[in-house]
Amino acid sequence: MATLTRRSALAALLAAPVVVRATTPAEAFDAAAAREPWRLPLKGVDDTTGSRDCAALSLSGRWPEALRGRFYRNGPALYERGGQRYRHWFDGDGMVQQFSITGPAGAPVVAHRGRLVGTAKLRAEQAAGRFLVSAFGTAIPHDGRTPLQGPDSFNTANTNAIEHAGRVLALWEGGSAHALDPVDLQTRGPVTWGEGLAQMPFSAHPKVDPQGQLWNIGTAGRRLVVWHIDAQGELVSARAGELPLAHAMVHDMAVTANHIVVPIPPVTLHFDRLLSGGEPADALRFHADQPLRVLVMHKADITQRRIFELPPQMVFHVGNAFEATEGAIELSFIGSPGHHFLSQTAVALMNGGAVTDPEPSRTQRVRLHLASGRTELQAFDDDAEFPRMDPRRVGSAARWLLTTASWRPGQGTGFMHGIQLRDLTTGRDTRFDYGEGRVAEEHILVPKPGRAGELDAWVLGTHFDSRRRVTVLSVFEAVALADGPIAQAALPYALPYGFHGNFTPSA
Ligand SMILES: [Fe+2]
Repeated sequence: MATLTRRSALAALLAAPVVVRATTPAEAFDAAAAREPWRLPLKGVDDTTGSRDCAALSLSGRWPEALRGRFYRNGPALYERGGQRYRHWFDGDGMVQQFSITGPAGAPVVAHRGRLVGTAKLRAEQAAGRFLVSAFGTAIPHDGRTPLQGPDSFNTANTNAIEHAGRVLALWEGGSAHALDPVDLQTRGPVTWGEGLAQMPFSAHPKVDPQGQLWNIGTAGRRLVVWHIDAQGELVSARAGELPLAHAMVHDMAVTANHIVVPIPPVTLHFDRLLSGGEPADALRFHADQPLRVLVMHKADITQRRIFELPPQMVFHVGNAFEATEGAIELSFIGSPGHHFLSQTAVALMNGGAVTDPEPSRTQRVRLHLASGRTELQAFDDDAEFPRMDPRRVGSAARWLLTTASWRPGQGTGFMHGIQLRDLTTGRDTRFDYGEGRVAEEHILVPKPGRAGELDAWVLGTHFDSRRRVTVLSVFEAVALADGPIAQAALPYALPYGFHGNFTPSA
């Protein structure tokens, strides 16, 4: 046998094919999260950590004795399966979080339970050990063996959670609501509101008026459905209408005493482009030459409608709407000049890429004159999201709008570091900054029992503390937001960043 000289060994080495394994999206994410811990909640959960229980969170401060009930949140949570990582933040399977606040005065107990929503999609993919169907921003080649049976085959139930008429509804934009048991968060299944209505889209931002009446929309292509569910959870009506822009990304809606108000941004979703190999951004188109439309329909007859036109912008969320004066509606909402967050930031959050979001999302209010079609728009100089208002005033005049907000430059997270309570009548706001390394999630206003004033309320919400690597629930006095939390409950673990939630007081 010939002995390899050092020279021939080197020559053999150089001649050998060089195998360089590309970094996977999951590895790229993990490396970025190791450098920047604020990204850690975006690792998500797996089938094991998608069930979380903590009987007693670590409490601090003074928990108000009248604040007792269940705070729900929902958001995309499971991002990786079978070595594959989703490409868009909105793709993840939904996980509902429930914070239960119980106990006598002076001895409060805050417990947490989190459960992945048991959708048909989740169950099938758990069994298969891999993703089987495409998500909002990730094309998954379909194997042909898994039957596709309509929108709910793709339903991740990942956007909002609200307790209504004795059940928790886990909501998504394109298919059925899923009902969960409020006691143990077990998934009962998709909700069919009436005969012939299976899998009709029931969007994630229903509005429940003070009488418990629930209003919602659903969209698909050019179709629009207007839902009315009564306080007992029974269908009153489901009526069909038409969208002025086909395939528009319609996310939220508002109600007034007499009207349904639906912002329709000039952003369209073209899923076929994703399926034919495009990036998530290729599937989304911002039509800068088209207005932000606001569709106003009469509650009693949705064919009585008017479409208002505002400067082109992306709108995810509304604050409130109400009949302001004779023949005019006032609407508050958050809008950004383009769809950068949707098409770029939400992708970078998944792959560990640099997060740049040069487009602030501004709090705005507009007066819509029904007879003339005239609009009066006012935009505030802020960068806000997740608008919430006093639930006792849904559909009627409300002065205060609570949002997450960012005002410190150079955050570079795509998320916000604080919360803001804005007086829409004067434009003034008060703020609280969670501080460096902390990410604020949606906060809500929780009315104080037996009190009626708009700020007779607590502010309740979660944030991720990247230094302790845990999620923390905070309570503020709404009238003294800037003073900071009066009480906090810290989990021993981090939850995935969520979207939306709601509070149900104890009976
Ligand atoms: Fe939303």
